[in-house]
Amino acid sequence: MGAPEQTSVTQLGYLGIGVSDIAAWEDFATRLLGLQVNGRSPTGNLLLRTDDYHHRLVLVDNGADDIAFYGWEVKDQAALDAIAQRIRDFGIEVSEGSKEDCAERMVLGLVKFTDPEGLSGEVYFGASRDHKPFVSPRGLGPLVTGDMGLGHFTIAAADPARYIEFYTQVLGARISDYIVLQKGDVELKLPFFHVNPRHHSLVINRKPPGTPEGQPWRRLGHMMIQMQTLDDVGATQSLFVADRIPCNQLGKHPNDRMVSFYGRTPSGFDIEIGCGGVRIEDEDTWQVQHYRAVTLWGHTPVVYPAEG
Ligand SMILES: [Fe+2]
Repeated sequence: MGAPEQTSVTQLGYLGIGVSDIAAWEDFATRLLGLQVNGRSPTGNLLLRTDDYHHRLVLVDNGADDIAFYGWEVKDQAALDAIAQRIRDFGIEVSEGSKEDCAERMVLGLVKFTDPEGLSGEVYFGASRDHKPFVSPRGLGPLVTGDMGLGHFTIAAADPARYIEFYTQVLGARISDYIVLQKGDVELKLPFFHVNPRHHSLVINRKPPGTPEGQPWRRLGHMMIQMQTLDDVGATQSLFVADRIPCNQLGKHPNDRMVSFYGRTPSGFDIEIGCGGVRIEDEDTWQVQHYRAVTLWGHTPVVYPAEG
């Protein structure tokens, strides 16, 4: 893979999710997703382990049912310093993570900022790898992460153009491709961003059209985690169906080519669970293209018969 010319973040390291029903989330994360609870942080957040990292998902009991913070990993202290300076040069204030902040995230170095959309952003290096084996309550293997990071998430932005500028010029994300959709009179051009071989770690969407001025909207569209096999994904979908959780059929997007389904989390937003998919191995030969459909096949809603 050709090295990016400037220092860039290397992976989506962790996501903090603000939740209103922590008990429902713990059950959902363990019994349905097969993730491992790995204790609580010093401030009491529930830590979910997905792989060889100590944790990658942090459940914050704050009632928001939306993204609480995101953490992008960089290589080392020098890369952290370089990115922090670029964030400042973009006109955004950056605070150095304190000893307590680093202990809370279990990292060696950390900077925090409020991004152009008002979200809590973090960049860090020195994640904590757990020396004990990952143990899934469902007996699954760890999620597929490694050089591709946690997965992906989508943000509904008030000013997508500015947000794209921030992500590409400051954090070093590269556009993978676009999905272009005609919504009435409006052409919606969705950019997908990669920071490593994962086809996309981030999608920048726009805030829901028709959102009244001054009214808040959910920023997190959905998040995606990758399981090891189609059997794992299919078995997970069966658990959603058994619990009559809103979800859709398996399907495949035209760009990343993962086989996945979407299911409703206890917070009301969706989690996408997928396997396989395209890797961007060579930055130098990758061509940015566009697609005019969201799905190649599938992803139609599962309709449950009335109970009784
Ligand atoms: Fe997705």
